[in-house]
Parts: sequence; C-alpha cells; structure tokens
Amino acid sequence: MSNPWSNPDDLSPQAAAELAAFIDARSQRPDQSAAHDALIDALAPQPGERVIDLGCGAGVIARRVAARVQPQGEVLGVDISRAMLDFAESQPAMPGLRYQQADSQALPCADASFDAATAARLLMHVDDPQGILREARRIVRPLGRIAILEADWGTAALDHSDRALTRRIIDWRTDHIDGENWMGRQLVRHCLATGWGRVDVRVWAAIARDDSGTLAASLRRCADLAFAHSVITIDEKTGWLAEIDDRLAQGSFLATMNEYIVVARNPAT
Ligand SMILES: C[S@@+](CC[C@H](N)C(=O)[O-])C[C@H]1O[C@@H](n2cnc3c(N)ncnc32)[C@H](O)[C@@H]1O
Repeated sequence: MSNPWSNPDDLSPQAAAELAAFIDARSQRPDQSAAHDALIDALAPQPGERVIDLGCGAGVIARRVAARVQPQGEVLGVDISRAMLDFAESQPAMPGLRYQQADSQALPCADASFDAATAARLLMHVDDPQGILREARRIVRPLGRIAILEADWGTAALDHSDRALTRRIIDWRTDHIDGENWMGRQLVRHCLATGWGRVDVRVWAAIARDDSGTLAASLRRCADLAFAHSVITIDEKTGWLAEIDDRLAQGSFLATMNEYIVVARNPAT
C-alpha cells in the first residue's frame, strides 16, 4: 500500500503542503510534544554542537534542537521533500538552523562532520533503514551519537469490549498502513547491524485518557481506513467508534502505545 510519508512530493502540491501543516500542528499536541521532549533529552544537544536532523519534516524537532545548541552550534535539517522544507523554511529563522533537500541514504555532507544525528519517525517510512543508519555513521564523528524515535503500533492497547474486532482493526493497521509499524522494536537490531555501539533503549509510552493527545484520533483513523479497505463493515466501524466515543464521554477511555527511543554511539574507529 502506498505510503505518503515515503516522499510527500509524490502527492499533489496542495496535499503535500497539507501534510506538512498536519505534522506541525500534530507536534503541538501534548503527547507529541512530550515524546519530542524525551527524544531531545536522550540526544542531549550541547551548546556549540553540530547536529543533523534526518527526515526533519516540518522542522519541529530541528527548531527545538537549534535552540539547545546555541551559542555557536548548528543544526541541519534534511528531508527528501521540498514541500516539507518549504513549510520548515516558512517558520521564523533561528540562529544556526538551516535546511537542505536530500535523501538520507546519500547525504551531501563530509565524513565525520557532525557531533550528533537525530531521526524521528523516518526509518519506518524507508525501504532500507540500515542504509540510512550506515550513512549517519559516516557523517557523525567517532564517539558521536544518534538518537532515534520510532513508534510501534504492535504495542497499541485499547480497552474495548469487542476484543476480536479491536485486534482485527489494529493488527490490519499495523501490517498495512504507513510503512513498517514495528520499527520501534527493530531499532536495536538495525543499529547493531550497522556498526553503532553502546546502544541504549528507552520506552516512552503514550497514555491517552481523552482526546487531548493524538491516539484517540489515530484509532478513529484506523477504523476509517479499515472500512475504506473493506477490512470491516460499516456496522463494525460505527459500533467500534461509538464505544470509543462513549468511553471518551464517560472518562473511562484508555489507550496506550509505546514509542522507542534508541541512543547509540559511533565507535572510535
Ligand atoms: C513522519 S515524517 C516525520 C517528520 C519529523 N521527523 C517529525 O517527527 O515531525 C517523515 C519524514 O521523512 C521524510 N523522508 C522520507 N524518506 C526520506 C529519505 N529517504 N530521506 C530524507 N527524508 C525522508 C518525509 O519527507 C517526511 O518529512
């Protein structure tokens, strides 16, 4: 199934621009902002450092890292999509922050030219995540680091009375929509296979009890897509969503999902 995040520029210009505005707005939801906090804490950017943000999208994380590396630090946000970078570049300029259009598998950067790299929700959308991790090792200096954030839809848990339907909807979404939705649990293996060392794993859990975060909306989208692809009937979709809405109204809604944050070091040689 096609994945719009693999290269938003394959969409119409308007759809690509809407996708950029969508991830920017989404990043302001409390759960997304907290996940980004956890990633940036793990990356621990220091004043004066040079950091590259791979698959930077609308520049949400690049901007936050840029604020942390001042004075004299630099952040380069790289994305394959011109539409994403147009949105990023339309935001207020920040010292030391610039963007460049490039494929993260072939970066226009010298060897060992960065202290650190970060990549959030990029690897799940590419055919060769290890190719990107190898390229990141090339451009990060020895003993430099990478901090990666990836969700894992296989860890999504929802309290719902129809267990079989819940499994059917979530498993279908996990296996068929928007790339490799088990990327979170695969990060350690990919880092080790590409020569990164001292691989440290953290789990940040999205805990949704209301609609303020993104998980309830994401679950609704699962049902919409499952219906659109004839995986469930209209009655199944309506009934499943009605219970979610009831639980939200009554305050008994609970859904959770793990996001994996991996930090790894480039070995000395
Ligand atoms: C889900 S978005 C995440 C954006 C951003 N990291 C964030 O967390 O808000 C995935 C981004 O990866 C970009 N992308 C996909 N494949 C890429 C590649 N091979 N090289 C660089 N960017 C890529 C897409 O254009 C998109 O902007």
